[in-house]
Amino acid sequence: MRVLGVNAVFHDPAAALVVDGLVVAAAEEERFTRRKHGKPPVPFATWELPERAAAWCLAHAGLVPEELDAVAYSYDPALAPAAGPDVTADAWEGLRTLYAERAPRFLHSVMPGLDPACVRFVPHHIAHAASAHLAAPYLRSSVLVLDGRGERASHLAGRSVDGELEVLAAQQLPHSLGLLYEEVTDHLGFRRSSDEYKVMALAAYGTPSWLPKLREAVRTTGDGGFTVAPIDLDTLAKRRREGERWTGEHADLAASVQARLQEVLLELAAWLHAQTGDRDLTMAGGVALNCVANSYLAEQGPFERIWVQPAAGDAGTALGAALHVAQALGDRVASMSTAALGRGWTDDELAAWLTTAKVPYERPADLAEAVAEVIAAHGVVAWFQGRSEYGPRALGHRSLLANAGRAENLERLNDVKGREQFRPVAPMVLGERAAAVFDGPLPSPYMLFTHRVRPAWRQRIPAVVHVDGSARIQTVERAEEPLLARLLEAVERRTGLPVVVNTSLNTAGRPMVDDPRDALECFGAAPVDALALGPLLVRRAALFRQ
Ligand SMILES: [Fe+2]
Repeated sequence: MRVLGVNAVFHDPAAALVVDGLVVAAAEEERFTRRKHGKPPVPFATWELPERAAAWCLAHAGLVPEELDAVAYSYDPALAPAAGPDVTADAWEGLRTLYAERAPRFLHSVMPGLDPACVRFVPHHIAHAASAHLAAPYLRSSVLVLDGRGERASHLAGRSVDGELEVLAAQQLPHSLGLLYEEVTDHLGFRRSSDEYKVMALAAYGTPSWLPKLREAVRTTGDGGFTVAPIDLDTLAKRRREGERWTGEHADLAASVQARLQEVLLELAAWLHAQTGDRDLTMAGGVALNCVANSYLAEQGPFERIWVQPAAGDAGTALGAALHVAQALGDRVASMSTAALGRGWTDDELAAWLTTAKVPYERPADLAEAVAEVIAAHGVVAWFQGRSEYGPRALGHRSLLANAGRAENLERLNDVKGREQFRPVAPMVLGERAAAVFDGPLPSPYMLFTHRVRPAWRQRIPAVVHVDGSARIQTVERAEEPLLARLLEAVERRTGLPVVVNTSLNTAGRPMVDDPRDALECFGAAPVDALALGPLLVRRAALFRQ
């Protein structure tokens, strides 16, 4: 079966293609349109589809829309508030429903030849859940989904056995842990539905002084759900305007909401485990991108292993919806083995891009050695290899790499990217070396957990140690990422450090680099020292010797 998954309803529009149960392509629309998060999360934008991501997925597989057996749309308007006579009522909620109902026709208009009757609506949280339990490498798992909202709920707890999901609990709106975190994000002067990870980073600078108050407001209900009472955030910390300096009071609010989120997550996981007795937990939904909470759950919670969908936000529902429908149509679906499901180019195509741009390049005999040399000499390298990644993390295909031993590199990378200085950058490390340097859940291939840096290493890799002594690591397996593994070894031979700084290849406010043009634009605009475009190496110094 050929099933195209589509996420379009809120934000992070994305498409994913599953053929005969295998994920063959998945990509976010923002990587094509260069508009961060694809579109604003407002009801008016519900009609906007991931046109270019969907077209690319089909082209990648050599398919035309007529050949699709189904399109899986990750929202079911039949479960949402009815459109009613006034679509402006309830903050335009009816308009969202109306647009979602019309999605088959909109899809037909952007994919001529598509049969609108092949569009299937998949409930939002079923799509999130499928992106976890069907994509994870487990035959059975407990499943936890937490986000801002779906049609009428903000949470799902269930169990999956051989791919069949049994829903055990679902929390209805208005109670939502994701929306509470979004409120705090907005209150602290960051962008709602976008910058929640900044609140998580800021939390490390504060103390959870408002935890008792948050414990009163946010409670689990003993039946797998929870309630969130309205909280007047102004009484906890002064609203911060965008661009204003943050103060200890802001960090304390961030720390308080982060601490309560972790506690509630633990209580929800404990309830779920009491129902299922499962060894493994799979997770998705925007809240599952909170890697500090994930680590807390991994260490304090009842499950032995936790697998989090790398595209845990709404983009991942395109993949989940496609997997769900493929299975419903009788395919046996396979777990995903990599997040590198986006676009890639051949070496010749990459060389042609550089030739067209009149950019001088080398073809080093050993790229890993040549790049390690630049990193060891304290250079920053833009690293563009293979297919781009699905989800918000750079995992070594579209990355900025630097020497973790140099403390100034944190400030330099945040400057290169135009980011706030309180934000940490993350390390990558060979899987076999990770336990010697970091303490926390392993392996961690998708950067969805934080780890404590072992005391002996803190002074040695200052660029990647957050203020609380943690680091959000990516473990690299040689069999899966041979070039990255060789690069890590080559850097260690020169610096004695088994760790390299890895942060996403983009500048502030822009989506991650996806195609060679983006890479050249980013390289041209940001003060990085070299660009490794596939096997080709561009050195900034050489550009000025022309
Ligand atoms: Fe969601």
